This record gives sequence, C-alpha cells and structure tokens, in this order.
Amino acid sequence: MQKVRKAVFPVAGLGTRFLPATKATPKEMLPIVDKPLIQFAVEEAMQSGITDMVFITGRNKRAVEDHFDTAYELEAELDLRNNDKLLALVRDMFPSHIRYVFIRQSRALGLGHAVLCAKHVIGDEPFAVLLADDLIDSKAPVLRQLIDVSNAHQQASVLGVQDVARSETGSYGIVSGHPLADGIERVTHIVEKPRPEDAPSTLAIVGRYILSPRVFHHLEQIGHDGRGEIQLTDGIASLLSEETVVAARYEGTRYDCGSKLGYLKAMVEFGRKHGEVGEEFGQWLDNGRKSPG
Ligand code: UTP
Repeated sequence: MQKVRKAVFPVAGLGTRFLPATKATPKEMLPIVDKPLIQFAVEEAMQSGITDMVFITGRNKRAVEDHFDTAYELEAELDLRNNDKLLALVRDMFPSHIRYVFIRQSRALGLGHAVLCAKHVIGDEPFAVLLADDLIDSKAPVLRQLIDVSNAHQQASVLGVQDVARSETGSYGIVSGHPLADGIERVTHIVEKPRPEDAPSTLAIVGRYILSPRVFHHLEQIGHDGRGEIQLTDGIASLLSEETVVAARYEGTRYDCGSKLGYLKAMVEFGRKHGEVGEEFGQWLDNGRKSPG
C-alpha cells in the first residue's frame, strides 16, 4: 500500500471576494484570530502523516514562503527579550522532518491547472489536496479521515463532501453515486457548479481530496473550459472512466473562509475557544457586547 506523503496547497487564486485585503496578500494568509488559514491546513496535513507540503503560489507568493521559513531576525529579537514562549511558538511551528516546496503558477488558470503544476513533484503516488479557505474544525483531522477511507477502499481517490442547500449547488462541485457504507458513496457523476435545477444531488465537494496520480493525465487531456480555466472537478470526472472515486462525509464543522460571512463565523467560533482571549470574548458576546473594547 502506498502511503499518502505529499499534499498540494493551491494558494494562487485571485481571492477577489476579499479585496482589498487580498490585493498584495493571498487570502490563505488571512488570520483566524492569530493563525493564518494556511497554517491550519498545514497543521492538519502534518497531523495526518503528510511530510511534503507543496504550495502552488501566485503573484503574491512571498507571504506564504516567508511564513514557512525560519525568521532569524525575529528569533534573535525574541531571544534578546527573553520571550521564551513566543520564541518556542515560532521555532517549534514546523518540525525538521517536514519539507516545503513552492511552485509558481504564473497565471490563475483554475484549480485543476494549479494542481497540475505539482505533477513533477508528486510523481507516481497518491497525494492530498487541501484548500485552506475551507477551515474544518474536527476532533480527528479531516485529511486523516479521508486517508483512512482511501485505505479501506483499495486506495481509491476520495473527495470530502457535505450536504448543502439545493440553492447553493452553483457554488460547488456536486457528486452523486451509490452508497458503499455509512457516509461513503462510490461516485458515478460529478459536475462543477450546476444550477439547482440541474444538480444531480446536493452532495458538495469541499476542499479536501485524496487523489490518484492518474488525475494528472486527465487534467492534461481535458483542456480549458469556457472561461479559459482547467477545473479539478472536470479532471476527476474524467478519472471516473478508469478508476474508482469515493465521496466521504467527514466528521467536523466547515467554515467557508473564502466568503466574508464564513470567515466571520470562523473568527467568532475560534475566538470563543482561543486559549488567551476566548473566555473574555465569549462573555462579551454573551452579555450583549456591552463592555468597552
Ligand atoms: P476559488 O474558487 O476560491 O477562487 O479558488 P479564488 O480566486 O481563490 O477566490 P475568489 O473566488 O476570487 O474570491 C479555490 C482554491 O483554488 C486556488 C485558490 O487559491 C483557492 O485555494 N486557486 C484557484 C489557485 O491556486 N489557482 C487558480 O488558478 C485558481
């Protein structure tokens, strides 16, 4: 059995829904209280056994690269101030057995194109894709849950899915299929952003995937869509013709941090649980937000 060791983090989207915040910074660097979205995703991958983190960056690549690099000046300054707690926080953030790779997607030609940019680094092994703007609060890391499903089904590709309102199907890749086990379906049909009346189901793909390397072949074959983009959903639809793809409902609460409303909800819920300010923040919310800032 081939272990899933590598994860792709596409962070090259334009993030237009968060302008002007995303003019010079990727939306994946937006923080939830004090931690950027991308760090949540990388920590989830690490807890799921991933050792190789492959970032697909765009024109605003520096912030992500710098975040996952040693910050010598900062460490020296914290050391000088004897701030051991913060020093440990920045130093221990990333264990030495983890490798980081940065690949530039020179033009934002779609999620499928972004994933295709990782082909030469992934090689011929199954890999994960995580979209950091889908922040999922769960007991067991969602990626680990999907890897377990893949292992239980002959290393099939696995899509993390959740039910959405029919009115929302136009914002997601939608799958339908045959039940295989509790919460698990064998995918027979997958379509990108269907209108509610055309959607084959209300089971939506969220930003967690385990993919067979054969998907690269299909992404190369399908070509661009009407908007000049290569869609990952279309590549997976093509993969269905030769390999099993499974949809798995995961345990966890998802926040769509690519949208302002989802981002605000995540901020409130993670703020309430925050070790340093959570209690006071919760009291402030629950008491009608009366006390001064
Ligand atoms: P989105 O569909 O959310 O697009 O991308 P976006 O450009 O990031 O955001 P909006 O809609 O303009 O506000 C889904 C994921 O795919 C990545 C994005 O960074 C995000 O993680 N992506 C998208 C790329 O890496 N490259 C692309 O060409 C497109």
